[in-house]
Amino acid sequence: MELPFLPLFALTFSISILFPHSLSVKDDSSSSPFPPNFLFGTASSSYQIEGAYLADGKGLNNWDVFTHKPGSHSYSLFSKTFIVYIGKKIQWYMWLYILGTVTDGSNGDVADDHYHRYKEDVDLMEDLGVNSYRMSLSWTRILPKGRFGKVNQAGIDYYNRLLNLLLARGIEPFVTISHYDIPQEAVDRYDGWLSPEIAKDFTYYADVCFKNFGDRVKYWITFNEPNVAFIRGYRIGIWPPGRCSGSFGNCSVGGNSEKEPFIVGHNFLLAHGSIVELYRTKYQKIQGGKIGLASHTMWFEPISNSTEDKMALERAQAFYMNWFLDPAIRGDYPKEMREILGDDLPPVPEILKRLKPSIDFIGVNHYTSYFVKDCLHSACEEGGLGSTRTEGSALTWAHVDGRTIGKPTSLEWLFIYPQGMEKIVTYIWERFKIPIFVTENGVGWKESPNLTINERINDEDRIDYVRAYLDALVTAMRKGADVRGYFLWSLLDNFEWTDGSSIRFGLHRVDYDTLERTPRMSASWYKNFIALHGFGPATKPLHSQE
Ligand code: BGC
Repeated sequence: MELPFLPLFALTFSISILFPHSLSVKDDSSSSPFPPNFLFGTASSSYQIEGAYLADGKGLNNWDVFTHKPGSHSYSLFSKTFIVYIGKKIQWYMWLYILGTVTDGSNGDVADDHYHRYKEDVDLMEDLGVNSYRMSLSWTRILPKGRFGKVNQAGIDYYNRLLNLLLARGIEPFVTISHYDIPQEAVDRYDGWLSPEIAKDFTYYADVCFKNFGDRVKYWITFNEPNVAFIRGYRIGIWPPGRCSGSFGNCSVGGNSEKEPFIVGHNFLLAHGSIVELYRTKYQKIQGGKIGLASHTMWFEPISNSTEDKMALERAQAFYMNWFLDPAIRGDYPKEMREILGDDLPPVPEILKRLKPSIDFIGVNHYTSYFVKDCLHSACEEGGLGSTRTEGSALTWAHVDGRTIGKPTSLEWLFIYPQGMEKIVTYIWERFKIPIFVTENGVGWKESPNLTINERINDEDRIDYVRAYLDALVTAMRKGADVRGYFLWSLLDNFEWTDGSSIRFGLHRVDYDTLERTPRMSASWYKNFIALHGFGPATKPLHSQE
């Protein structure tokens, strides 16, 4: 790889001269706010970076199939959202409508080709000085047909090579068993998450992972963001399997937006519980690792001081995040969900009542915050995210009543509101008292055409974002939250789901024609930050911190 070394050095040097504030969390490590063995890392997921989608025996997963299919559900999304946000989002939805499921028509077939370039990428991590790396395993690289076929040895070999290399460089692997991907075989045979059969497949797969990698992996996450996967896949239908109904959209494959999210949620909880029970009974004592769950999290600011809007905040958290964290930790759904949904809510699997808490740590993925407005005591005629009964009757959006919560970015859902990090981490800590890892935080931008390479790697806005969110995280830690790690999303620009390759989250820019990686200014910033506040290569896993 040819790096523009001199220009980059010059650029980095001038940043530290021009923007000394860019290392603001603390400027001397002797009083670092981060505890010993704090994990500083970057995060990624297999589908978003690996590419090699049919290489060496890999089978098809739900995202492979979804991104190859012209958008069956996109018309309904287009028409519904067109009406709600008329005038604001036309261009984006036009693209979605014209091109299908992914706005720019791209897919993860090649992505960053990390499967073939992982050595180069581990070099980049080593250069950053991170002591940990959050990654996910590709289910169908390991089990091309789920539990209905053989283990793919080439997939096992690949992850062995990657894990060994990480450990040789002092980088602790933090491994998500599935980051949204499930075998297409499970979808074809029994409708994937809609059937409790998925729990058998997931547990079978997790067993293969623990058996093959558990001697070296000390941090496991069962699944990434069930809330996002199920809201997008089964309520608004914009992600696989593209199911929805009624006022939520007119998905051609069918669906029931008011019921299915809770059915798949139940089946997920069954799968999660079963994996954790397997780990605890068969592996945990011998292998000495920890297991957790990663949730997408948002902070919600009540739109007014009224009691109703404050109660709406609790309902929004209940129906978004606590929907999964409460059963996983306390063995029951949040009371707000029980009160509103009653018997419409499937039971909490018995296994979670036995295991409680079924997780050793909470993975907090946090990017943005929204306002919240009560829709239970007064009608929210404008409609929108969260406003219906099965969403908790709490309207959540970054614009409410003509106000915007924070600075907008190129992503229509991401607004910069660093206070949200402090508030959500404090909220989670006070509610659950379980160790927290910030398993994702970062910001993505659209790249304007016709820029020079220097302009493409000048991401001062990202530095400002990360610095401010880290500052807010430190405030939560000083107030008592037990936070043990921070993973910046992401090491590389990557396939950003339905935004395709158009949105770039990377500390390193990826040229999608040549696949060349070029460090952005934020990479130098994060490197300096870790040098000041980090503790070098990981020496002790979580279990020995206690
Ligand atoms: C997901 C990532 C995604 C990121 C940015 C997270 O919620 O886990 O896969 O790329 O958000 O949108």
